[in-house]
Amino acid sequence: VILTQDELKKIAAYKAVEYVESGMVLGLGTGSTAKHAVDRIGELLRQGKLENIIGIPTSKKTHEQAVSLGIPLSDLDSHPVIDLAIDGADEVDPHMNLVKGRGGSLLREKMVEGACKKFVVIVDETKLVKYVGGSGLAMPVEIIPFCWKFTATRLQNLFEYAGCTAKLRTFGENNEPFVTDNGNYIVDLYFKKDMGDLRAASDAILQLAGVVEHGMFLDMATTVIVAGELGVKVTNK
Ligand code: A5P
Repeated sequence: VILTQDELKKIAAYKAVEYVESGMVLGLGTGSTAKHAVDRIGELLRQGKLENIIGIPTSKKTHEQAVSLGIPLSDLDSHPVIDLAIDGADEVDPHMNLVKGRGGSLLREKMVEGACKKFVVIVDETKLVKYVGGSGLAMPVEIIPFCWKFTATRLQNLFEYAGCTAKLRTFGENNEPFVTDNGNYIVDLYFKKDMGDLRAASDAILQLAGVVEHGMFLDMATTVIVAGELGVKVTNK
């Protein structure tokens, strides 16, 4: 049997939900993989197999999904310590560093997942990369809208050595700027080569005024669950 990518995402998601116990405060991720995990948590609550869960959503979209499933919700102000978060990723490198935010929710995801005791990442095998940026897909940076071109150019210049191209994320026929849940824009960075020291890259990005956050999640994941044609692989830090 050949499984679809969505079926693999679901397998990884259900495996992650096995880590959930009654009474936990849970970070609820965003995206097509995390959606399966949130659905499953809702189902187990309905069946009475889980109780006293409090969810902390990482986006407006996940907030709506969780409300529709009847999952009790709260926020970081009231629950600054989260037991476990489950979320997808766009890239996972061999050191469990991640790229996230193709869905645009990187800022809230980073706030919530940075407050977790355990952070379980769920992906299908297409997300595995040799190095961050290695998929050729976007590494997103959330920036404030004010003079976004100026910030985009500075970001691109930072990584000239890695053949970086910076592009404002847009949507629709009129190429309107994509606006995040926080009212910001996203600049997607594309790399031709490995950017090298990720911590240094992260620091350099965050030092630019106008940048709010970037989509590299370094040293945050505690478990990675990869679903592939040959089965599920769980790696713990
Ligand atoms: C949302 O902004 C992202 O960080 C997602 O978690 C990430 O893009 C993975 O999404 P999929 O599970 O839809 O691939």
